[in-house]
Amino acid sequence: MEAFCYRDGQLFAEDVALSAIAERFGTPTYVYSRAQIQAQYQAYAAALAGMPHLVCFAVKANSNLGVLNVLARLGAGFDIVSRGELERVLAAGGEPDKIVFSGVGKSRDDMRRALEVGVHCFNVESTDELERLQQVAARLGLIAPVSLRVNPDVDALTHPYISTGLKENKFGIAIDQAEAAYRRAAELPNLQVIGVDCHIGSQLTNLAPFLDALDRLLALVDRLAAQGIHIRHLDLGGGLGVRYRDEQPPSPGDYIRAVRQRLGDRPLALVFEPGRSIVANAGVLLTRVEYLKHTAHKNFAIVDAAMNDMARPSLYQAWMGLVPVQPRQQAAQHYDVVGPICETGDFLAKDRELALAEGDLLAVCSAGAYGFVMSSNYNTRGRAAEVLVDGAQAFEVRRRETLAELYAGESLLPE
Ligand code: LLP
Repeated sequence: MEAFCYRDGQLFAEDVALSAIAERFGTPTYVYSRAQIQAQYQAYAAALAGMPHLVCFAVKANSNLGVLNVLARLGAGFDIVSRGELERVLAAGGEPDKIVFSGVGKSRDDMRRALEVGVHCFNVESTDELERLQQVAARLGLIAPVSLRVNPDVDALTHPYISTGLKENKFGIAIDQAEAAYRRAAELPNLQVIGVDCHIGSQLTNLAPFLDALDRLLALVDRLAAQGIHIRHLDLGGGLGVRYRDEQPPSPGDYIRAVRQRLGDRPLALVFEPGRSIVANAGVLLTRVEYLKHTAHKNFAIVDAAMNDMARPSLYQAWMGLVPVQPRQQAAQHYDVVGPICETGDFLAKDRELALAEGDLLAVCSAGAYGFVMSSNYNTRGRAAEVLVDGAQAFEVRRRETLAELYAGESLLPE
């Protein structure tokens, strides 16, 4: 499904012209397609049909309440990493018992609230966290369901898209220490071991590392069973890549079919935590050209969105597609597309062939994941509006921040 298509010479989101959205809500604005979000979620759910499963959308990828609500209505679960994300999911109508709580730094408060609302599972990342969770659960007189996040030590050299060694160190419990950690978890009276979890990286475009990790997890599940520790679910995290430029990632269906084949007759439920693959291509960032600046060396298109709105190009040198909303029939030139922020690193795209005039609208493609959620107020810029398109209707699911809001929590020193 392609929610963003040209029709009559201009770019649409479903049945709404992006030019009409810019007119009505201004720019910069994130625009999401409900139909595309649904289709991506359904691709996971359909491939998992007939077996116990949970598709837990990784809230960090896009935490807008409207977006979360679309997924909650489909019966999605959610993967959260903070108290804030927990409250967002609840406010959006998500069911607590479909939430998995990931992250290396859960505070006692985080744990308490998650226990009170009754999350499905804590993905525990260290033995110290196990002990802390036991204490918090005991004080509340509750039982905490847990998975251990295992670092399966998949060879990063042969699979370069996996997180760096540093990340590997910070996340999870080394697989060779996992059995001891599980034995400890099984002893703790207020914990109930229910799963094994891993997440090996993001934007993976090849199945091999996922399947290597899966094999190692399945071997662990079998060893645990031999010790009387019975695992009910396997959480394979997120990480499936999307096409930004010319990548050819496997589809959720291909991925899940390969996983199901390897489960054999083990009675395991499957949990996934996809973020990017659900929302990246369901969103664009709509921005307007403020100035065209032609220098002796380069042409710049200075637009009204900046690195504070979309950090991925500056932060990761990520290549994002960038297309005109109403293409012009004139000779194209090469442009660096940059924002108004006072930093050389403030760019959205470099060296793109575009035919442009001042006032033109551009769409940054694949901006639905890790876009708005990573935005900031740098240079005292208010954060963009977010609009969710559903067929021929456009809903403002987050209004643009006002200038007064930007310093509302600040104060002057006393006289
Ligand atoms: N589960 C866990 C425990 C994670 O750490 C992540 C992402 C996900 C699930 C979702 O992964 P996904 O399906 O979206 O790949 N800001 C970066 C991406 C950071 C991903 C962090 N963890 C970017 O813009 O590329």
